[in-house]
This record gives sequence, C-alpha cells and structure tokens, in this order.
Amino acid sequence: MEFTLPKLDYANNALSPIMCEETLDLHHGKHHQTYITNLNNFIKDTDMANKSLEDIILASSKDNSKSGIFNNASQHWNHNLFWQCMKPNGGGNMPPKLEKKIVSDFGNIDNFKKDFKQAGITQFGSGWCWLSINNGKLVVTKTANAANPLIDGMKPILGCDVWEHSYYIDYRNRRPEYLDKFLDSLVNWEFVDSLLD
Ligand code: FE2
Repeated sequence: MEFTLPKLDYANNALSPIMCEETLDLHHGKHHQTYITNLNNFIKDTDMANKSLEDIILASSKDNSKSGIFNNASQHWNHNLFWQCMKPNGGGNMPPKLEKKIVSDFGNIDNFKKDFKQAGITQFGSGWCWLSINNGKLVVTKTANAANPLIDGMKPILGCDVWEHSYYIDYRNRRPEYLDKFLDSLVNWEFVDSLLD
C-alpha cells in the first residue's frame, strides 16, 4: 500500500498567529511528506508493503535493522494524529465526558495540563508528549524522536510534536510558551474526546 499525505481539515493559515502558515507549509508539506516518501521507498517490494501503518510500526519497533522503516512509519502516524488534535480557535472547555475522565485520573484539569506541559518541556531533544489510555486510565508520557505510546500497548488520544520544526519559526527556543499556546488555543478537545471510546 502506498501511503499518501493526509489533507488538513483547515487551511495552512487558519491556525495563525498561534501556528503560522510558514510553519504549516514546511511541517505538513515538507517534513510530513518526507516521512511518507521515505516510508514508501523503504517498504516497496518487501513483506511490509501490504501491512497497515500500525502493523508496520509494531513489526519494526523492536528490530534495529528496521529502524529506518520504524522512524518514518511512526512519524507518519504521529503527525496524522497531531494534525487532527488541532483546530482554528481551539483550546477552551473540554466536552463533559473528557473533562470528567481527566478530573478522575489527574485530580483536576490544571494538574493534567501541568503534567502534559512538563512532559513536553523535559523531553530532551526531539520527541513528543502524549495523553494516552493505558489499561483504562489516562496517562501522560513523553517519547524521543519518532517513538510513540502504541509500541508500549497504549492508545494515544492527544500528541504534541516538540521537534523544533514544530515551533521554531513561531516561538524560537521558547518550547514552554509553544506548549501553553498548544493547550490553550490549538487543541481540538472534541476530537480528543471522540478517541476516548
Ligand atoms: Fe513534526
């Protein structure tokens, strides 16, 4: 199966000024496209060619000889989630089901946001911070480079890209400010809520 770049649900300038058009042009149009092009080249004419993206990630994650496949497949999956986790005029109140689950598992919304931001800040170098379902409970984790919580048996429902290509044009080195803006003005909580089931 040939993988293709998913179309965004919003225009490249629709997240401005929180995330500008140039960032989306490069991040979606160039970085994400490159992961997909590399992945297609890696799996062409191999036994991976007919597997689903999730199966490719799981089949390559523990095999060092397949690190090229894993890195590009996982980054394709991670970015697919990331784009859907944002919307113009995002942030704000969460749907009741999600809010109740977060309060139940983190004590309150502020605790969750503090944990999520801290995970993003303390991810040394490139990587991601996540909200995932693990054995029925919501957990915040961070991963390096292309890795994601799928490979540890969790279901990610919110992911924030903390590679510099995601924030350097808009926030330079100010990753904490990017994480604040992501949570308060970009997250599509309705989409996150829809992944609870
Ligand atoms: Fe990225």
